[in-house]
Amino acid sequence: MAVERTLSIIKPDAVAKNVIGQIYARFEAAGLKIVAARMVHLSRVEAENFYAVHKERPFFKDLVDFMISGPVMIQVLEGENAITKNRELMGATDPQQAEKGTIRADFAENIDANAVHGSDAPETAAVEIACFFLSLNIYSR
Ligand code: PPS
Repeated sequence: MAVERTLSIIKPDAVAKNVIGQIYARFEAAGLKIVAARMVHLSRVEAENFYAVHKERPFFKDLVDFMISGPVMIQVLEGENAITKNRELMGATDPQQAEKGTIRADFAENIDANAVHGSDAPETAAVEIACFFLSLNIYSR
């Protein structure tokens, strides 16, 4: 299995709930290392660019409005199979469908405010990481 990097975002709802530490503990318990992190209040343009792939979808404006409603915590996670592992920890997009014990089942209210984002493939992970971090600011260890 390959060591991978993935982009994780703790969304405004989970930041407001003060559960950044609880979510970080789950990453660490699963063997994922936080190798870069920033708290950011995204601008509308930044959020629209980040989610550009979804711009034709009916929920695009709601998603962007939500993502700029407060600060987010953005991190690069590194580890064996990090992309899939992070998505397993997150659970299904809709918290009502998410398995018990996943981040979304435990901390998210609904599909509009679903606590976390995680890259879905190596190609998207590379693009998403580059949106927020320079390579020299990512600290593998
Ligand atoms: S996923 O996780 O990318 O496979 O899910 P997908 O269904 O393609 O959704 C893409 C992102 O849009 C968010 N989403 C929504 N936001 C607001 N309202 C509705 N109805 C909705 N449905 C999906 C979903 O959380 C995904 O955001 P990220 O940040 O990638 O998790």
